[in-house]
Amino acid sequence: MCGIIGIASAKPVSGNIIEALKKLEYRGYDSAGLSTIDDGKISEKKCSGRVNNLEKILFENPSKGNLGIGHVRWATHGIPNEINAHPHSSEVVSVVHNGIIENSNSIKEELIKKNYLFKSQTDTEVITLLLTSYLKNLDILDSVHKTLERLEGSFALGIIFKNFKDIVIGARRGSPLAVGYGHEENYIGSDSYALKSMTNKISYLEDGEICILTKDKVEFYNSEKNKINKEILTLSNDENKTTKGDFKDFMSKEINEQSITSKTCLKEYIDHLRKDINFYNFPINPNEINRITLIGCGTAYHSCLIAKYLFEELSSITVETDIASEFRYRKIKFNKNNLYVFVSQSGETADTFAALDLCNKNKANTCAIVNVVESSIARAADFVFPIHAGPEIGVASTKAFIGQMLVLYLLSLKISKIRNEITDQNYIKNIKDLNNLPSLIKEVLAKRNEIQNIAKDFINSKGTMFLGRGLSYPIALEGALKLKELSYIHAEGYPAGEMKHGPLALIEDGLPVVVLAPKDKYFEKTISNMQEVIARGGKVILFTDDDSEIISENIRYKFNIPKCNDYIKPFLLTLPLQMLAYYVASFKNCDIDKPRNLAKSVTVE
Ligand code: F6R
Repeated sequence: MCGIIGIASAKPVSGNIIEALKKLEYRGYDSAGLSTIDDGKISEKKCSGRVNNLEKILFENPSKGNLGIGHVRWATHGIPNEINAHPHSSEVVSVVHNGIIENSNSIKEELIKKNYLFKSQTDTEVITLLLTSYLKNLDILDSVHKTLERLEGSFALGIIFKNFKDIVIGARRGSPLAVGYGHEENYIGSDSYALKSMTNKISYLEDGEICILTKDKVEFYNSEKNKINKEILTLSNDENKTTKGDFKDFMSKEINEQSITSKTCLKEYIDHLRKDINFYNFPINPNEINRITLIGCGTAYHSCLIAKYLFEELSSITVETDIASEFRYRKIKFNKNNLYVFVSQSGETADTFAALDLCNKNKANTCAIVNVVESSIARAADFVFPIHAGPEIGVASTKAFIGQMLVLYLLSLKISKIRNEITDQNYIKNIKDLNNLPSLIKEVLAKRNEIQNIAKDFINSKGTMFLGRGLSYPIALEGALKLKELSYIHAEGYPAGEMKHGPLALIEDGLPVVVLAPKDKYFEKTISNMQEVIARGGKVILFTDDDSEIISENIRYKFNIPKCNDYIKPFLLTLPLQMLAYYVASFKNCDIDKPRNLAKSVTVE
C-alpha cells in the first residue's frame, strides 16, 4: 500500500505535500516523510507515526524547496520507525515507493559487494542505491530505465535528483500512479483524490510507463523509452464529499450517508417509468452465461457471498465465489461461457487486480463492480458497474458494502429477467420494494441509541461470535470483520448450523453472541441454533424482524429491523452491526478511521 506524492513547482512545495499526505493516510499511516531540494541539496525529513508528526518537524525546521516527494508508509520490509520511513536517499537521489520489490535481497547483496551502505531494512533502499550506481555512467532517463528493468515485483515510484533540480520522475508497474497538471506546477500521486485540492486535470500512468515532471510540463515515456502522449481527464469536483462535515469521524459520516448513497445508486440503475433495471451496453449476453465467478477481498468478498445466494435464488446459473488472493494462484479452467465479476471499493486492491489480469490474459468475460471509476480495476475490466457511493475514506468499508450488495442484487434480478427465470410480476415487485430501501435504512440508523447500549456488553469481552444462515451468513461474517478490525476484539462469523461441529465448544457463561435471524426460510432453524447457544450460557443479542414475544425469553437483547422483502433484509441487518463495531471501538478509544495495522487501499500482495 503506502501513498506517494511528488510536486514540481515555482513555489515551495512542503505545505502541499503535507496536505496531500494527509489525504493519502488512508493508504498507510505508520510513518511519513518528505524530501525536497533545498540549497542544491537533498533535504530529507522523516518520522514514525502520523503525518501530524512530520508537520511538527517541518514547523520547527521548514523545507523551502520548490520540488519534492512525500510518502506515507504501511510497513512491509522492516518495522515502522523513522529509519525505515520513506524517502530513502543517497547523496544524489531520493526515492519514495509504493509496492514490494521481490528480488531486493539479491540486489542488496550485489550492491553491498560494491561497497554501498544500507541504512534501512526496506526493499526500497535498493532502488535508491541501484539508481545511484547507474547515474555514475548513464543519463537520467537511461539510469531510471535500467533500474526499473532490474526490479521484480510491484511499484509506483517518485524520484528527485540532486543534480537535476527541476525534475520529478514517476514510474509505475503494478501499483497505481496518477499525474496532475496545475498552473506553474505539476504533480504525481498515488490517486487523484490526493491531488484534487490542487488540480482536476489528471492522467494515469500504465504499467511500464514513466513520467518526467517539471513545473511547466510533463513528458511520458513507455518501457521502450519512446515518448508517448496521454489522455487528460477532467475530474468532477466532489471535494465536499471528502470532508467530515459535522461528523466526528469519516466512518460515522459514511454510515449515516447510506440512505442517500443507496438512493443515488437506485436512481442510476432503475427506470421507474418502465419498471426496469438499466444496464446499458452490457456487452455479455446473459443467456450465454452458464457460470458466474465472483471475486473480491475482505468486505468486498462478503458482498460476493451475498450475491452467490441471490444469483442462485433468482437464476439457474452456477455461481461460485473466490477470494482474490487464492484465485490468482489456482489452476482455473477458463470457459467462454463464464462471467468473472470483480468487486472492489477502491478498484486498486492488488490481489483483485491480479485475478482480473489473469482473466484478461485468458480472454475471459469480465466485469467490475467498483466505487472508484477511474481505478485500475475499472479500467481493466470489460464492463464497469459503478456503485455511486462517493468517496469512502474510513478504512472500514461501510457504504461501499451496501452499494456493492445493491448493484449485485440489481444485476442478479436483471440477468434472471433476461433469461426468463423470474416472472414479470416478481421482477416488478422486487424493483418496487427496492424503492423503500433508502427510507428503511434511515429507520434502522435512527435506532443508534439502542446499539450504543448493546455495545457496552462487548467492551470487556475477550471474544464474540456472529451467527446467521442463508443470506444472513455473509452478513454475520461482515459483522465479525467490522468488530475485529475496529475494536480489536476477537470475533468469528459462522453459519449458525455449523456451531455443533466444533465452535459450540467456545461458548461459555456470559460470552456475547450475535444471532441474525430474520423471518425467512431459515428462521426456525436459526432460532434452534440460538437456543443451543443460550443453553450453554451464551449471552445472545438477536437481530430480527420477528416481533413475537416467545423467542425473547433468555435473550439478553432483541433488536428489531423493519419488516420487508427477504432480499432487503441483509442490507438492514448490516447497519446495526456497523454501528455495533463503531460504538464498541469508540468506547474502547480505538482510532475509528484508521485502525491499527490496516490501510484503506491494499496495493500489495
Ligand atoms: C474491511 C475492508 C477490507 C476491504 C478489502 C478490499 O472493512 O474495508 O476488507 O473490503 O481490503 O478492498 P477493496 O474493496 O478496495 O478491493
